Amino acid sequence: MTDIAFLINGHPVRLTDAAPTTTLLDWLRESRALPGTKEGCNEGDCGACTVMVSDDRGTRALNACILFLPQLHGKAVRTVEGLEAPDGSLHPVQQAMIEQHGSQCGFCTPGFIMAMATNHLNGETDHDTALAGNLCRCTGYAPILRAAQRAADQPVPDWLRRETDPGFVRSRLSPVAGPGGASTPPPADTDVALPQTADALAEWCLRYPEGRLVAGATDVGLWVTKQLRTLGPVAFIAGIDALRGVSVGDTEIHIGATTTLAELMPAIAPHHPDFAELIRRYGSAQVRAAATIGGNIANGSPIGDGPPALIALGAVLHLRRGDDRRRLALEDFFLDYGKQDRLPGEFVEGVSFPRQPDRLKCYKLSKRFDQDISALCGCFNITVQDGHVTGARIAFGGMAGIPARARPVEAALVGQPWTAETVAAAIPAFAESFTPLSDMRASSRYRLDAASNLLWRYFHEDRGIPTRVLEVEP
Ligand SMILES: Cc1cc2nc3c(=O)[nH]c(=O)nc-3n(C[C@H](O)[C@H](O)[C@H](O)COP(=O)(O)OP(=O)(O)OC[C@H]3O[C@@H](n4cnc5c(N)ncnc54)[C@H](O)[C@@H]3O)c2cc1C
Ligand code: FES
Ligand code: FES
Repeated sequence: MTDIAFLINGHPVRLTDAAPTTTLLDWLRESRALPGTKEGCNEGDCGACTVMVSDDRGTRALNACILFLPQLHGKAVRTVEGLEAPDGSLHPVQQAMIEQHGSQCGFCTPGFIMAMATNHLNGETDHDTALAGNLCRCTGYAPILRAAQRAADQPVPDWLRRETDPGFVRSRLSPVAGPGGASTPPPADTDVALPQTADALAEWCLRYPEGRLVAGATDVGLWVTKQLRTLGPVAFIAGIDALRGVSVGDTEIHIGATTTLAELMPAIAPHHPDFAELIRRYGSAQVRAAATIGGNIANGSPIGDGPPALIALGAVLHLRRGDDRRRLALEDFFLDYGKQDRLPGEFVEGVSFPRQPDRLKCYKLSKRFDQDISALCGCFNITVQDGHVTGARIAFGGMAGIPARARPVEAALVGQPWTAETVAAAIPAFAESFTPLSDMRASSRYRLDAASNLLWRYFHEDRGIPTRVLEVEP
């Protein structure tokens, strides 16, 4: 149980007895009689449950099915029931969906509307990317995209602009959130905690060394909704500002653990554009707005997209337990499938890597272009001077039980002339590097062949030969 306060469609709510793993979706539909927000997959994949969430960081679309109530403390939630103006007029995206015939069965529609209204508010016009997390099985996307384009010509309604403003959210919450308003978090030393500082988190982790940290809940949410697991002591850490953000120094780039993928994407783009492009293929806008880089590393997934790119950049992981801090090469954090070098009570503070000329290319292979988990993800960072390979860091997800470097391939390249002959000679080293599994995403043979071909792709791309095909034309 915890004590939290947030706004729902502009009305303050204070909850003192909600179970910490109640999802916003269940609460809306079962406790608030707000069934406009739909349940499709209940695992973050379809967007039917999309709501608009505003706080000091801005306004974003999130999937309510994998959003636990404590994650909403101090925020404003708007559902499809709250999108009509006070005078009863429709929001521009609602009107445009009607005019463009953007809905048939209508089940997906509330999620689309909330994602579109959020994009409209934020001035987002890349509708293909921004709506990739919303599935529609009967209307088809053309009318929906036309509606989004049509609505973009209309201004954001004044009332919505006002009610999503952080100052408005704070002032509406202060009467219900106790002394100090919503900025006062619940105590950080209970078995359900919302620590606001890294020190408070460090203390909590020592007190509950086997406790569960929840950052974006894009993994943990599924443990609850799909595996029906209980979490035990739990700390919600996304609100720790000191662990959030990307800082670019003279010699290194540091990413705080609670930085979301959505925040990382524009921050990394000027330095390593291909990393940003990889992040664009990561889940959906709703997932990227919640998922953190710390969670993407700490979950130890062999198919996470962040670790291969970071390992290829030479990243170092920053871990903290109490006042003790240590750093280790990111690849050494992953010991075995499901096993990481993390002590009880230790948490990820951040990850950093040297500033370097950009030589990074990231290749995500998955069955769908958008919103899919990698069958494999290969990240290549090969430096060449005077025609010779002077350094090579090549890391893969999906090729082993952990994210891993292709060290034999790296060894076959370094010191050699950067030529097609060298690449051809290095290809057999992929079989020495990996013995991938066959599973529903890809066969072992496919993985090995595709991984080897990615080295060719890197080589050709480096020579200026176009290799990327986003549209296939007859
Ligand atoms: C629909 C959908 C699509 C997805 N698509 C992709 C994709 O394309 N690519 C991809 O890589 N992943 C994808 N994922 C997986 C998921 O989004 C990522 O792994 C995500 O980065 C996890 O971050 P989080 O903040 O949500 O972690 P959480 O779910 O909050 O936590 C995950 C794990 O990390 C631990 N943890 C979190 N933060 C810390 C910390 N600072 N210190 C120590 N432990 C910590 C938690 O205790 C938990 O064990 C997808 C998930 C969904 C639901
Ligand atoms: S119900 Fe499918 S994303 Fe939430
Ligand atoms: S209108 Fe039926 S799924 Fe989109």
